[in-house]
Amino acid sequence: MTAPRDPDATRSAPRLGDSTRAIRAASRTPEVLQRPTSIPIFQTATFTSADAESLAAVAGDARAGYSYSRLSNPTTTALGDTYAELAGGEAGIALASGMAAIHAACAAVLRAGDRVVAPLAGYGSTRVQLLDYFGRFGVEVDLVDITDLDAVAAALAASPTRLLFAESSANPTTFVADHAALAELAHRQDALYIVDNTFASSHVCRPLELGADLVVESATKYLGGHSDVIAGVVAGTRALIDAVTAVRVDTGAVLAPFEAFLTLRGILTFPIRMDRHGQNARALAGWLERQEGVERVLYPGLPSHPQHPVVERQWRPDNGGGMLSFEVAGGRAAGQAIIDSLGLTERTASLGSVHTMVVHPPSTSQRQLTEAELLASGIRPGLLRVSVGLEDVEDLVADFDRALAVARQVAATSGASGGTSAPAPAPGATPVAAAARFDR
Ligand SMILES: Cc1ncc(COP(=O)(O)O)c(C=O)c1O
Repeated sequence: MTAPRDPDATRSAPRLGDSTRAIRAASRTPEVLQRPTSIPIFQTATFTSADAESLAAVAGDARAGYSYSRLSNPTTTALGDTYAELAGGEAGIALASGMAAIHAACAAVLRAGDRVVAPLAGYGSTRVQLLDYFGRFGVEVDLVDITDLDAVAAALAASPTRLLFAESSANPTTFVADHAALAELAHRQDALYIVDNTFASSHVCRPLELGADLVVESATKYLGGHSDVIAGVVAGTRALIDAVTAVRVDTGAVLAPFEAFLTLRGILTFPIRMDRHGQNARALAGWLERQEGVERVLYPGLPSHPQHPVVERQWRPDNGGGMLSFEVAGGRAAGQAIIDSLGLTERTASLGSVHTMVVHPPSTSQRQLTEAELLASGIRPGLLRVSVGLEDVEDLVADFDRALAVARQVAATSGASGGTSAPAPAPGATPVAAAARFDR
């Protein structure tokens, strides 16, 4: 091994040109002997090794270290490690977004000809990714009511299955997956069980401890928590995370160090925020249940939720999360009137932030679905999804009170109730087809 080059050598080399001196001087990283309290933003594409041999060893993974930020970056690695600890996994990884995390987790384990069983009720982009992208490469996807364990068992037994996918609490209905039962059903058929835990968050529910093989979260939501970052994370066994890492490296779905830093900063207050999200959501949901014109409230922390017993067994006691849905009389028009009448909430399609956010899923997160697919997923035209923020809950209640009064007027004027004559096939309450295949 040759002696490492002295990074300061150019300081005393008077004959170098101005450009050379500028480049060398402005790249001289300070040596810091004390650990910074905050994880620094390693805003660099490349890392310099002492010599050619160590560069080759680091780039080829033979030696621990950093060479190129698409392969790994200390700030991003710190986020992956942090998430592993929060989720109870052996290892973790951060990616460019929640969708990138879902893609990398699935691509790490799926091959052409494999079969996936996924929820009928779930996030629209995940459904599209599975059906339209993995489907395009020969993966077969069957959608099933994940809350109906007999239907899941039948779907898994129908044909060899590589992967069972579920959301802890479904976007947007909040239908809750029984992780212990689903993991057992999947493993009995030699399938892997992957969970999107975005709605619940790892403070409220830990799918890995209940048998899941991989857990995925959009860190854009509760982990970041402040609506200022797009990021995704995955945790699980070291072997599976290595496979996810290979997908991230080769597809380039890396998270930038600044985004990793913002997410880490959010995580400093994540459990405290989640407790307040849970308290606010519980109070708002309980109040909504008593209001005229509200046809149904779906909040996992309320005894009226169809899967409340699962929540009591598998979620943090006294925290049903920050997400709720409710249906207003008057259908789509009344639902949109509520959104337009609320003064304190953000009219935006995201969730998991300090800000309360209300969306009308049929026109936002579930816009990819046809009316029939919406109904099959338990989504009626008047359904609203609320991500309850950290504001004072009395203010939120007063705001919703005003908005509901407007919605009641809209419902009375249009003479509608529910906005559709079709039944609401809510999983856990009304049977839906055991498994439906959508060829799109
Ligand atoms: C349940 C769920 N999973 C995944 C995602 C995707 O996350 P991202 O927007 O960070 O890609 C979302 C986004 O809303 C979501 O609600």
